[in-house]
Amino acid sequence: MIIAIDGPSASGKSTTAKGVAVKLGITHLNTGSMYRAVTLALLEAGIHPDDETKVKDFIAELDIRFDESNQIHLNERNISKDIRSENISLRVSAVSALSAVREKMVIAQRDIAGKKDCVLEGRDIGTVVFPNADHKFFLIADVKVRAERRLKDLEKINETKNISDLIEDIKRRDEIDSSREHSPLRQADDAIPIDTSDLTIDEQIEKIINIINKK
Ligand code: DC
Repeated sequence: MIIAIDGPSASGKSTTAKGVAVKLGITHLNTGSMYRAVTLALLEAGIHPDDETKVKDFIAELDIRFDESNQIHLNERNISKDIRSENISLRVSAVSALSAVREKMVIAQRDIAGKKDCVLEGRDIGTVVFPNADHKFFLIADVKVRAERRLKDLEKINETKNISDLIEDIKRRDEIDSSREHSPLRQADDAIPIDTSDLTIDEQIEKIINIINKK
């Protein structure tokens, strides 16, 4: 069984996908963290996303994998915390717009999830990665609510930023993610939209589980 949960940043995808996977006892794959891992690797190697030839050669050698606790590793190093920084958030949309990066990530995602039951969250799961997914959801939320969620996430890693700057960052990322040439963020025709603005995490999870059980 493949469950696709797509939507813009901070729409509640990660917590929901994780909760749904735990309730169903299946794997959770956060595909955004893979694009974040590539972004961190490029940044550390001093390679600019505009240099697509260099990016392509460099990522061919990258080893990105998840351990049994779902922690993400880049060439054997646990980078789960590092990829959540605002520095990476501000750069990841440009990196994830590159076709060379997307091709490699999509192959890896199909490889990880193709052999088991999995909840995948991202931007293009229901449209590109698994267009025949058994269940598709598209999460949305009010931009102010999303900025507040993002602030809470940042505070967990001892970073902070003012709300109006976060709102602007989110709007800019939405614009890049939905207007890019390759696999733009878009709701699949057969995805069920869920507005999480006024829902608690438990309500979001319950809503999705109920829909899955009814189908
Ligand atoms: O979900 P997130 O904010 O951690 O995602 C980080 C970035 O990765 C986001 O700007 C868009 C990109 N992304 C993507 O292009 N395709 C995916 N399947 C998942 C994320």
